[in-house]
Amino acid sequence: MKQVKAVIIGAGSRGSGYALFQLDFPHRFKVVGVADPIKIRVKKIQEKYSIPDEHTFSDWSEFVKCDKFADAVIVTTPDILHKGPAVACADKGYHILLEKPMAVTEEDCRQIAQACERNNVMLAVCHVLRYHPPLMKVKELIESDVIGDVVNIQHTEPIGYWHFAHSFVRGNWREEKSSTFSLLAKSCHDLDLLRYWMGKHRCTQVSSFGSLQHFKKENKPVGAGSRCLDCSVEANCPYSAKKIYLDKVEMKYREWPINVISEIPDVESVTEALRSGPYGRCVYECDNDVCDNQVVNFTFEEGRTASFTMIAFTEKVCQRQTKVYGTRGEITSEGKGPVYVYDFNTNKTTRHDTATPPSGTHLGGHGGADHFLMDAFVRAVSTNDASHISTGPQDALASHLLVFAAEKARRENRIITINEDYTYQ
Ligand SMILES: NC(=O)c1ccc[n+]([C@@H]2O[C@H](COP(=O)([O-])OP(=O)(O)OC[C@H]3O[C@@H](n4cnc5c(N)ncnc54)[C@H](O)[C@@H]3O)[C@@H](O)[C@H]2O)c1
Repeated sequence: MKQVKAVIIGAGSRGSGYALFQLDFPHRFKVVGVADPIKIRVKKIQEKYSIPDEHTFSDWSEFVKCDKFADAVIVTTPDILHKGPAVACADKGYHILLEKPMAVTEEDCRQIAQACERNNVMLAVCHVLRYHPPLMKVKELIESDVIGDVVNIQHTEPIGYWHFAHSFVRGNWREEKSSTFSLLAKSCHDLDLLRYWMGKHRCTQVSSFGSLQHFKKENKPVGAGSRCLDCSVEANCPYSAKKIYLDKVEMKYREWPINVISEIPDVESVTEALRSGPYGRCVYECDNDVCDNQVVNFTFEEGRTASFTMIAFTEKVCQRQTKVYGTRGEITSEGKGPVYVYDFNTNKTTRHDTATPPSGTHLGGHGGADHFLMDAFVRAVSTNDASHISTGPQDALASHLLVFAAEKARRENRIITINEDYTYQ
């Protein structure tokens, strides 16, 4: 296969993660450029992948001024900064791996899809769950007809109590105006999966309820401080930044989320980050406004139904729980490991093992899904065959429109009707 040359636009957590694919498959993939306003991030990528100075940039807009020098871009900028680089890179003829959500408004999502189609470039939206081995197995089992006709799906995203506090109370996805609403930021994958699993049966109606329940000033414990490092009731708080970060770094743990709060993940730097930065704030005194729990109900064609729950207050971290109920059996996935099918005819349960990435790969995030996603994108670009990508422009757009519709249902407290082209009223 032809080696794919790519530029990382946004060298943060996700961008530097995807770049690791080069370490696993240097003959298939090479990072040849990087753009990020944070100099130390550019430098780390530049040194790791031997990128020449002229291919390092402090902003995506600087990069797109250059003549095309790669096959693809990996756009991993913050949510509100997806449309600019995606449209400009499509116009330059780059194939695009774009982090989810595609963009934070419907109009921007449409413009990205149109730009990719207009320029005949491939777009892979990082709905990583489509590449997640247990969830891929669920799709395969549905299609193999082992449970007959699918009548109902129940799907839950347990975010994890500390993960929610990290990302959605103290962190980058805490407020709508600087990011987006939590159903789009966190669960656009999941609504995409429900559409994917229902196959040719289109969603026709949605309703939704949800709110920010807990992380508010009125729930602040008596005697609590403004920062966990000097809070007298911290020991009794599950959301204590000392517990979430300092205890981990003291145990020599250096990965996510430690590496998010400090470029140098050691005890001294993390302590300083908690003393002065956003991640040391009391969770009841942050400028957060996104929902910490939300449910969405769906009707699909022929009366099939589905329900989705996004919930912050869980032990499990992002390990989806799924039940698919069919006319002849049910499928159970615990979001990792095997998937089980119970057959109503034989009263037997069958275990179905799921794929794992090649051993020793660097890109193990999302239960191996990050590896399979990159594998599919690189294969598609290398062979010029978009069929390897399961989340192309129109498919990803339809899933995003469903998320916007669900959020409208929540805000307006009404049932929203979805049209054939996924516009809604
Ligand atoms: N697929 C998933 O499961 C998943 C998981 C986490 C995050 N995400 C998404 O991935 C994206 C990136 O998230 P992250 O966690 O890596 O965030 P991050 O903050 O770690 O990285 C974003 C990077 O973009 C850089 N950036 C900002 N402005 C830029 C500009 N003008 N030009 C170039 N770079 C610029 C920032 O400096 C930062 O380094 C977000 O949209 C996020 O929602 C997806």
